[in-house]
Amino acid sequence: MAQRTIRSKRSIATLDGLKGFGLQPEQQPPPKRRRVEPPIDLSIAENWSIRPELVSLFQDAITEGLAPEHLSYSDSHFGDTKTLRALATFFNEYFDPRLAVQPSHIALTPGSSRSLAGLLSQICDPGEGVLVPAPFWNGFDFHFVINAQVQPVVARLDDFKNAFDADTLIASLTQAYNDTPLSTRALVITTPGNPLGQCYSADILQRCIEFCQERDLHLICDEVYALSYFAEPTESRVPFQSILTLDPKSLGSDPSRIHMVWSLSKDFGCSGLRLGCVVSQANSDLILALRLPTSTEVSALTTLCATALLTSPRLPDLISLNKKRLAESYKEITKVLEAENLQYVPATAGLFVFARLNPEATEKDEVPFLQRLRQKGLVISSGQAYHIGPECRGWYRLTFALPPTELNKALAILGRCLKSDRSSNARKT
Ligand SMILES: Cc1ncc(COP(=O)(O)O)c(C=O)c1O
Repeated sequence: MAQRTIRSKRSIATLDGLKGFGLQPEQQPPPKRRRVEPPIDLSIAENWSIRPELVSLFQDAITEGLAPEHLSYSDSHFGDTKTLRALATFFNEYFDPRLAVQPSHIALTPGSSRSLAGLLSQICDPGEGVLVPAPFWNGFDFHFVINAQVQPVVARLDDFKNAFDADTLIASLTQAYNDTPLSTRALVITTPGNPLGQCYSADILQRCIEFCQERDLHLICDEVYALSYFAEPTESRVPFQSILTLDPKSLGSDPSRIHMVWSLSKDFGCSGLRLGCVVSQANSDLILALRLPTSTEVSALTTLCATALLTSPRLPDLISLNKKRLAESYKEITKVLEAENLQYVPATAGLFVFARLNPEATEKDEVPFLQRLRQKGLVISSGQAYHIGPECRGWYRLTFALPPTELNKALAILGRCLKSDRSSNARKT
């Protein structure tokens, strides 16, 4: 008889996956504490724009609303009823859905990464593939592989700046779908996108729906940056449009295979509260299968705060204030990039800008550039993490949604590093 391993196959696959991301069971001992200021972190997509206002709103919510029942399990097997209702009303107000969102269309989760992993676990068998157009958030790699045990099938582009061109996008999806040996079950798209901070047009969304229908794929639209659209609308700028606005039936498509995910993490800068959801308007089986496990993972304190925020009379003002402050911070960071004559992808939404800080870079220069910045007190993330392709060098993603004093400090460091790099490059030539 074959000897049984002490751990499940799933556990072994998870650990192999974690090691693939460079994580080891025996971590290095923590470095000796030194009394130095920690670097300013522009590498994480966190939003500090309206935190003081939110802290005050949540303090009131807890002082006035916390009751003995909040120490119990939620009031339904499907998650907190008030939060489900508040989310439905919120989507109907701000996402312009073609069909009104009902609480029964929503599964609560502890964050949109859990929404994505939960959806993919329901849609795919372990080892199957999920199409994702590049560039995309590097967390997909981790959550898809580790939490859902599915493989991203990357649809690459020759030039990532064409990522929002419909024909280019569909051609790259078609090629990736045809080339992969994996059985592919879903397409995941992100609008507004991470790391480019731009939105898909209605035409692109429709073509993605048709692409999926022709191949029997589910379409998952990650809209975590929906309300972080900060640009002034102009004719040439594509506004944010939710997948929920479209009518799949009129496109000959099956609405039961279209799903949207959203969370409090980005638009309201509450990534630590862990509240997200899946909205699927024509697949009650899938919602039921998701709801039972995920809703029990959401804390009652979180649902108390989320409901207070989403039903607050101050909500419209908070959303406008968030957009205004994001626009101001974006202006500040792009001023520095422009002063240094650096290329960047103009963003209309999101919390970051994608810029070519190191135009001369070859593969071997990218990490030393990050290290130089870190030594000066700034952490940013490398463009390669977002699957932009090895031929595109010198790109980085910088988060700007920081408190203004932190952002100013960060920009001063960035400006100094860029200048000193330029003068040492000039000396070399
Ligand atoms: C596109 C995208 N989706 C999902 C997430 C995860 O967010 P959450 O905190 O809701 O899990 C992120 C986080 O950066 C993201 O950029």
